[in-house]
Amino acid sequence: MDRYAVFGNPIAHSKSPLIHSLFADQTGQRLHYGPLLAPLDGFTESARSFFQSGLGANVTVPFKEEAYQLCDDLTPRARRAGAVNTLKRQPDGRLLGDNTDGAGLVRDLTVNAGLQLAGQRVLVLGAGGAVRGVLEPLLACQPGQLVLANRTELKAVQLAREFAELGAIEVAAFSTLREPFDVIINGTSASLGGGRPPLSEAVIGPQTVTYDMMYGKDLTAFNRWAQDEGAFHTLDGLGMLVEQAAEAFELWRGVRPDGAPVLAELRRQLG
Ligand code: ATR
Repeated sequence: MDRYAVFGNPIAHSKSPLIHSLFADQTGQRLHYGPLLAPLDGFTESARSFFQSGLGANVTVPFKEEAYQLCDDLTPRARRAGAVNTLKRQPDGRLLGDNTDGAGLVRDLTVNAGLQLAGQRVLVLGAGGAVRGVLEPLLACQPGQLVLANRTELKAVQLAREFAELGAIEVAAFSTLREPFDVIINGTSASLGGGRPPLSEAVIGPQTVTYDMMYGKDLTAFNRWAQDEGAFHTLDGLGMLVEQAAEAFELWRGVRPDGAPVLAELRRQLG
């Protein structure tokens, strides 16, 4: 059977095998997709060995930058992101790297949540790998304003400079933001430790939608805060996870699965 995998460390709790098996059922495709735990110092070797027979793989923490290095060819969005979450063995054996994270986020925001980003005031929090992966597709939606804020401001300045040719990014410190935004996307890893960026409540208005790229059974600390401050709606990153997988599935199989029913099933299982 056609083999696919997700590489990570840790990987045991990954939802990707479930997502891809639901996509395969939905589209009538026959394939096997399993989790592969790569040693922290052995991603390249594991991936090369897998691709002796495997056709495609996803890559998650902490191997996305190494996957980028491994590829023979890169899509423009993966090159810009500096990280690869999707690998595909091409007919000539060369390994293609793509990054579907940003497209997944934008699809979740615009299709699943029905948000219009064009002309909106958008605030992005963080300047690490997660944010780097989503800036290009976000800018392509032509927000009216895109503000980037990070704890270490210099990293936000550097990112804004790197993406300048794709659109204007304004850099701000958390403490100076005092106006409400239409959409606030939390791409920091603060939620992992139960924290949140130190923002003034003035950034939340009655129309504000917040999006935390993290997800869990309960609201993240950031989304809980936003809800308490009266945000219109809070969204978490489960939809982004499903939609980045749908992009990868399409790249591999040439068929576009519908993310919405799979997201509903995952949400149901999350309880
Ligand atoms: P990832 O791949 O998840 O983006 P990363 O590249 O290590 O991980 O980046 C983590 C991001 O979360 C950074 O923007 C980091 O801010 P710094 O650049 O100042 O380190 C941000 N971050 C992590 N913990 C945070 C916290 N408690 N409050 C605010 N920002 C935090």
